[in-house]
Amino acid sequence: MEQHQIAVVTGGNKGLGLETCRQLRDLGMHVILTAREPAKAKKAAGMLDGTGASVSWAVLDVTDAASISGFAGQIKNTWGRIDVLVNNAGIAINSRLDEASARATVDTNFFGPLRVTDALVPSMHSGSRIVMVSSAMGQLSCLSGELRKQVESPTLTREQLINLMQDFVRSVGDNTAARKGWSSSSYSVSKAGLNMLTRVLSKELAPRGIVVNAVHPGWVRTDMGGPSAPLDTTTGARSIVWAAVVSGQDTTGGFFHDGKTIPW
Ligand SMILES: NC(=O)c1ccc[n+]([C@@H]2O[C@H](COP(=O)([O-])OP(=O)(O)OC[C@H]3O[C@@H](n4cnc5c(N)ncnc54)[C@H](OP(=O)(O)O)[C@@H]3O)[C@@H](O)[C@H]2O)c1
Repeated sequence: MEQHQIAVVTGGNKGLGLETCRQLRDLGMHVILTAREPAKAKKAAGMLDGTGASVSWAVLDVTDAASISGFAGQIKNTWGRIDVLVNNAGIAINSRLDEASARATVDTNFFGPLRVTDALVPSMHSGSRIVMVSSAMGQLSCLSGELRKQVESPTLTREQLINLMQDFVRSVGDNTAARKGWSSSSYSVSKAGLNMLTRVLSKELAPRGIVVNAVHPGWVRTDMGGPSAPLDTTTGARSIVWAAVVSGQDTTGGFFHDGKTIPW
């Protein structure tokens, strides 16, 4: 019997996450739609597959270590493996830049994908794909001076990157962020960090044959993107799904939009 590929999507209850689940299901994968609230996860999965034959749901809050380890255990015991992980969950806080909003944004958009990936990598195998749903707002032009050089260094390590992200949050707190070269948008900084994390993880996981890429879905009409965005979720999710099916070490560690490389 043909075995379905297993795909996990974070923040799958609405917007780009939900549409990504739909498109992966249409490709014949078994999709595990995750959301931080059980009722939302169940409702969204029910919209895609009432029978549970091709879509399951699970609770996963990417900021909660216990939730992540519980989910990783569920994957190991119930499914045994993951072929695709889409780190889609994200937030954009529309408020004045302050330490609390910077911390929350970096925690969800940068540390969330890092925690989830670290917890799920043991269930992956050669040929598994990880997709980081990032944004063109995280392109490195949002940083300046010496800081930009540090962030974009091809030899940047996981530890150095984590320290830089923590430094951003502290610098917002003591009002030194702008002087150091950080963007005034926490969202941009979190996605720039996510992009560099993609590079770091792609190198770490290359020996195991696991592919890691970041994508910009475009400006998409969702709760986050707002009603004026030019793209619908069907179009935006195509960029994500492209990276979820791409294979081979020549396509790992990149930043893509619509299947084409874009600058970091
Ligand atoms: N829309 C755009 O124009 C655009 C452009 C570039 C990149 N992106 C990126 O695309 C991704 C999806 O965005 P979207 O536009 O679809 O936004 P959205 O409609 O606001 O959906 C965001 C999703 O993330 C979930 N989420 C937030 N915090 C979470 C947490 N701690 N744990 C688990 N799930 C969490 C939300 O869950 P709740 O429903 O519980 O809040 C929701 O399911 C994000 O990473 C975003 O940065 C979007």
